[in-house]
Amino acid sequence: MKTRESDVIFETNITSLEFLYRGKVRDIYKIDDDRLLVVQTDRLSAFDVVLPNPIPGKGRLLTELSVFWFKKLSHVIPNHWLDELPQDFVTDRERGQINGRAMVVRRLEPLPVEAIVRGYLAGSGWREYQNTGKICGIPLPPNLREAQQLPRTIFTPSTKADIGDHDENISFELVEEKIGKDYADKIRDASCKLYEEASAYALAREIIIADTKFEFGTDSNGALYLIDEALTSDSSRFWPQKQYFVGSSPPSFDKQFVRDWLESISWNKKPPAPDVPEAIAQKTADKYREALILLTR
Ligand SMILES: Nc1ncnc2c1ncn2[C@@H]1O[C@H](COP(=O)(O)OP(=O)(O)O)[C@@H](O)[C@H]1O
Ligand SMILES: [Mg+2]
Repeated sequence: MKTRESDVIFETNITSLEFLYRGKVRDIYKIDDDRLLVVQTDRLSAFDVVLPNPIPGKGRLLTELSVFWFKKLSHVIPNHWLDELPQDFVTDRERGQINGRAMVVRRLEPLPVEAIVRGYLAGSGWREYQNTGKICGIPLPPNLREAQQLPRTIFTPSTKADIGDHDENISFELVEEKIGKDYADKIRDASCKLYEEASAYALAREIIIADTKFEFGTDSNGALYLIDEALTSDSSRFWPQKQYFVGSSPPSFDKQFVRDWLESISWNKKPPAPDVPEAIAQKTADKYREALILLTR
């Protein structure tokens, strides 16, 4: 599929709604006290830094995949997605900026925790395991190898860092301190259930979900919802099952491709990030699209 120039959105500028927040990937506008318009741009962050070049069409792919999971997994826990048309809330002239890349969502209070779940040993989990034999304080059996499946799904939360900071793995006890025992238990259980159900589904489509990150929020009555995005190539490690083997980092359908390129040029991981060559950006977009198609078509 070819991507037209006009499909690429690095930053939105919608003036008919009140602008609230520009995150690393999403631009957020207020619809009213209860609802937000979330626009998935084509920005990509790697190592918590936003790269200067967009990944063409990524925001649309993320939107489609998140909405797919929100619908599929709503029986596990309610989520913020509302079945309303984003284009109804902007002017005709602004529609091009949000086309296929926006969601109308419930406005909630985000809990200050990144709810990470892992079924396999990779990334920062693999590094922590090599150093300490544990991840987030959870002891694991000895002699596990890179990319190996864990004996069970584990909840390995991290802090939600401010812009410019890096997220840090934290213990479950610290999550309890931050948000209370009740929410801590609930987000751990919901995260594990969401992950297990999604990964069984994905495996039947030849994708291994090695790990993923969820965010949760609460409404004014204290009810808990899944927010942000769900099980996308930005928030998850997707491995093609056919090319999976234990002992090294498998190729993947996610931003690992860009991360590997950044490692290869020895960038110090501090802003500003280097320019991403067109071919790398396009290849990344292709990987994201491949994952979407395998999972949803
Ligand atoms: N339903 C919601 N209500 C309030 N805030 C939300 C909701 N969904 C997502 N958010 C917040 O909006 C932001 C999404 O933008 P993103 O680009 O991911 O930002 P960040 O750089 O902070 O990760 C996150 O900070 C997330 O916590
Ligand atoms: Mg985010």
